[in-house]
Amino acid sequence: MSFDPNAHRDASLQSWEEAASGWTRQQGAMREFSAPVSHWMIDAIMPQPGERVLELAAGLGETGMLAAELVAPMGGVVVSDQAETMLSGARARAVALGLSNVEFQVLNAEWIDLPVASVDAVLCRWGYMLMADPQAALIETRRVLRPGGCLALAVWDAIEHNPWAQLPGAELRERGLVAPPAPGTPGPFALGSVEEVRRLLEKAGFAEIAVETIGLLRRHPGFTDLWETTLDLSRSFHDAVLSRPQGEIEEIEQAVRERFAPYEAADGSLEVPARTIVASASA
Ligand SMILES: C[S@@+](CC[C@H](N)C(=O)[O-])C[C@H]1O[C@@H](n2cnc3c(N)ncnc32)[C@H](O)[C@@H]1O
Repeated sequence: MSFDPNAHRDASLQSWEEAASGWTRQQGAMREFSAPVSHWMIDAIMPQPGERVLELAAGLGETGMLAAELVAPMGGVVVSDQAETMLSGARARAVALGLSNVEFQVLNAEWIDLPVASVDAVLCRWGYMLMADPQAALIETRRVLRPGGCLALAVWDAIEHNPWAQLPGAELRERGLVAPPAPGTPGPFALGSVEEVRRLLEKAGFAEIAVETIGLLRRHPGFTDLWETTLDLSRSFHDAVLSRPQGEIEEIEQAVRERFAPYEAADGSLEVPARTIVASASA
């Protein structure tokens, strides 16, 4: 079946609106796990007091809020996402941090509702690979950046470097509960190549492109935490598993537990590797 971008956009929006509660539950763990990536991105854009920063596909706005502290008091951050429920979580985080220089905007990053050259920097962590047309989104990103403004992004590296997602996905595929992603279609690992990220940035007209990878570790006190985290963060896994009868859910959980056994320490805790691509570029 050929890829229908509008059907993808509708399904993605619905799925992420539903994912916000799980992401909010995992917010603290995600913050800790992803800190090296957020800090790489913030170092890349070097936010200066008074600047205006845009975060795209922001989810709960964790990365944008790090920038908000640096551009205060005269500068500000626009935290944006397609999903209103994600932005509700982001608003709560801004209140908790006492930030008064953050605005929130529901928008699709493929057509950014902001004027030409209206921001100094753009952040987008784990967003572009999920979009129907990442190339269009990068061209839009460059349009809203002032000349010389900086973009910092992260996308997941290829799935074989990310067993935290590869192992649960393999279990569901072998059971016929999910289909393998069609090549060239959006998904968490769709831009998992340093060369592809560089090519897309060049084609969008960016200069001074730097692309590298960062290794991360997902730490869990035990398998139950890993299982609950996966259900909270992956809507496709959640829907495929929880639509099955109770007995089968327990079987799947046991099978996934066995797949992760190589990462389990004697005390039952787990450390599962992850690898992300990060890139910076100048408009
Ligand atoms: C994997 S989450 C990442 C959230 C956040 N950036 C982080 O790193 O924690 C992906 C986010 O991208 C958003 N998203 C996906 N496609 C989008 C699009 N075309 N435009 C705007 N947001 C989009 C989703 O709604 C979701 O909140």
